[in-house]
Amino acid sequence: MNNGGKQEDTLALAITGASGVQYGLRLLECLLSEPRTVYLMLSRPARVVAGLETDWELPARPAEMRRWLLQRFGSPPGELHVFGQDQWTAPVASGSARFRALVVCPCSTSTLSAVATGASNTLIERAADVTLKEGRQLVMVVRETPLSAIHLENMLLFY
Ligand SMILES: Cc1cc2nc3c(=O)[nH]c(=O)nc-3n(C[C@H](O)[C@H](O)[C@H](O)COP(=O)(O)O)c2cc1C
Repeated sequence: MNNGGKQEDTLALAITGASGVQYGLRLLECLLSEPRTVYLMLSRPARVVAGLETDWELPARPAEMRRWLLQRFGSPPGELHVFGQDQWTAPVASGSARFRALVVCPCSTSTLSAVATGASNTLIERAADVTLKEGRQLVMVVRETPLSAIHLENMLLFY
């Protein structure tokens, strides 16, 4: 699968259900302020946390969420694609798709543990697995406090 775009212009962003989804949403706004392509995935818990921690009422359906976000950001120059959690035909699910890096911001300890064990049960987990196996950059902004030994050991698996 190939999105036809230039790899250096395409980034993937996943927002999971940890506190601080505002950071992920702000990062999205910054990424879209330049003419690049962004593949966005939001977990279901991320929408719940966004509803509790922000005044953003993000629609559940990817197409509606895309329209809502673009309107919120004032029709930015970047190109946004939003994918649902079970959208296995999304470019990020395939190693042949051209995206430079995946940022998971914020990253819950649940997603951290799934990625650390190589699970690919959701599109976000699969995208992280693809990113690692293709030797691309994976940035995980893990958010939890306090951290347990399990969380720390999971993070060490990425060294
Ligand atoms: C308001 C709220 C805040 C949460 N904050 C965190 C957090 O900071 N870190 C974390 O790892 N999980 C947090 N959780 C729990 C996760 O949402 C939960 O483990 C979920 O299964 C994560 O799934 P996901 O990784 O697919 O988004 C929070 C949940 C809620 C409702």
